[in-house]
Amino acid sequence: MGRKDTLMVDVKTAIEPLEEVFDEDLEDLCDAAESAILDGGGFGWLRPPPRAVLGRYFRGVVLVPERHLFVGRLDGRIVAAVQLQEPPRNNEAQAHAALLTTLFVAPWARGHGISPRLVQAVEKQAVELGYLMLNLDLRATQDAAIQVYEGQGFERWATNPAYALVDGEFVPGHYYSKQLRKLPKAKKPKTRKNPAK
Ligand SMILES: CC(C)(COP(=O)(O)OP(=O)(O)OC[C@H]1O[C@@H](n2cnc3c(N)ncnc32)[C@H](O)[C@@H]1OP(=O)(O)O)[C@@H](O)C(=O)NCCC(=O)NCCS
Repeated sequence: MGRKDTLMVDVKTAIEPLEEVFDEDLEDLCDAAESAILDGGGFGWLRPPPRAVLGRYFRGVVLVPERHLFVGRLDGRIVAAVQLQEPPRNNEAQAHAALLTTLFVAPWARGHGISPRLVQAVEKQAVELGYLMLNLDLRATQDAAIQVYEGQGFERWATNPAYALVDGEFVPGHYYSKQLRKLPKAKKPKTRKNPAK
């Protein structure tokens, strides 16, 4: 064949919240997370933890009321995940802002547009829950993720030069935010016409 051959394979992708983890899904989720970590990860772990630890981690995530886990499927199997983390209830001053965290797609499932849709699912849930801001942070070396977040309208507002420590070296990290709706007009406190009286 003279032309460059392209093998087009039809794959079905789906994005969904995961509120309960069944054994088969857990295996797929752990496989995907492990391979993403080995590939350079970027969502906290530098080396994959033992499988049992990873399994307990994901089982725990779905039990935490402030965490919302979304997964990406390729032909029915989980290959990607992301979480929406709500602020702790005692943090009244920051009750307007939620966090998008731990996004990953297994290396073999990349290039199907799964991560922008996962980011959109998190954003939609944050809007439904009434949040005004969605924040995230990541290592400055995560080029693909930076493309994805900036493509979804997140704006970088700071860089921490000592964000992570990898193999004894500091790695900078970027902080991003997206405002989800306009700030409601603040009610002005009523002032007395003649405060001296
Ligand atoms: C970030 C990640 C989720 C993206 O996976 P994906 O949805 O399959 O994304 P794609 O492979 O389609 O790439 C997304 C975009 O980044 C670009 N990209 C991919 N690899 C890149 C690289 N090494 N450098 C720069 N850009 C890159 C792609 O061209 C694409 O841009 P486009 O949509 O304008 O074409 C995946 O790379 C990943 O899991 N990385 C490791 C974990 C991570 O970084 N998580 C985020 C920090 S919490």
